[in-house]
Amino acid sequence: MNYPKAQLSDFIDFFGSQPEVISSAPGRVNLLGEHTDYNDGFVLPIAIPQSTWVALSRSEDEWSRFRSENMNGLVHYQAGGAIPSGFAAYLVGCFEVLREEFDAIAPVNLLVSSDVPMGAGLSSSAALEVATLRGLRELFDLAIDDIDIALLAQQAEVRFAGVRCGIMDQMAASLADERHMLFLDTRTLERRLLPLPEQSELVVLDSGVPRSLAGSAYNQRRAECEEAANRLGISMLRDLDDPDLTDVLPEPLNRRARHVVSENQRVLNAVSGVSADEFGTLMNASHQSLRDDFEVSVPALDCLVELLQDHADIYGARLTGAGFGGACVALARAGRGAKVGEEILAAYGSKGYQGRVLVSGSMPTDFDPGGS
Ligand code: GLA
Repeated sequence: MNYPKAQLSDFIDFFGSQPEVISSAPGRVNLLGEHTDYNDGFVLPIAIPQSTWVALSRSEDEWSRFRSENMNGLVHYQAGGAIPSGFAAYLVGCFEVLREEFDAIAPVNLLVSSDVPMGAGLSSSAALEVATLRGLRELFDLAIDDIDIALLAQQAEVRFAGVRCGIMDQMAASLADERHMLFLDTRTLERRLLPLPEQSELVVLDSGVPRSLAGSAYNQRRAECEEAANRLGISMLRDLDDPDLTDVLPEPLNRRARHVVSENQRVLNAVSGVSADEFGTLMNASHQSLRDDFEVSVPALDCLVELLQDHADIYGARLTGAGFGGACVALARAGRGAKVGEEILAAYGSKGYQGRVLVSGSMPTDFDPGGS
């Protein structure tokens, strides 16, 4: 979406003048490489059309004021004060991680608007962090690049929102676009932009089940992976390339580690120039591994994924993001995504669930490889 004019007038209503800076960042959907980023592994996200927008200006006193179009009220914050709850925690996180490094940072008035679905596993928080850091970079003329922005955004989330996330979402919000998959090595941050497999497009469906448990179970999975690596005498599960080597571990660490090691291999396979059919098969295997070995699926996601996988115009489907609810991503035959989305939602509805289409029919055009 483009920055909505109505929200410019809201900014003026709330803060009394035009914003000095407007910035934005997209949400993302991850195609393969789930729960691998905090194990130094490989990921394959792509930006979605939905974005978060931030309008901001310097404040005239010692208070920052934060408002979100998606929520009521105005949050007041004074540097170094208590961390507010909700969306403002992410803003304070961005503000504080920058303040530690740059004297130029001063209080701001800031208005957020977003059409990135929240709680669907499409990185609404990373989009908010990256949009905010971009805005602060411009307002205070900071010498930081897009990788710095991703790393600062991750720090903001880990330290101020309490989720020990990896770097995938922030790198995607900062560097990905809608036309290319971002193949990222989360250990070295080396990356390549790649086209989707030929004759394919994406469908992203929300299961309608909010991601409950995500924070605590996410941190628990992360701790299990660390323990597995520890017991195997390696620094990170990335250092293993044979899933069978995880068999020596006790339950459930063996299955957690097997997911990570096999998922890394699936990403590497997927970027070796496979067909849409082969890519879809890798997505299906990823879902099975997330469901059985990593245990981050729920019945609604399994039902939606199964309906997608059984459809003749779908190459493959899986849950996307951290799991425990949220969205599914599928690779569809080019030109069929929108219709498939509607058909699957009807079938999903007849099973007693209520989903919605979040993305359908995005397809890369003008392919121009880049990145490093
Ligand atoms: C969340 C985290 C990411 C990543 C995914 C799972 O989105 O923010 O860092 O770990 O879960 O792949």
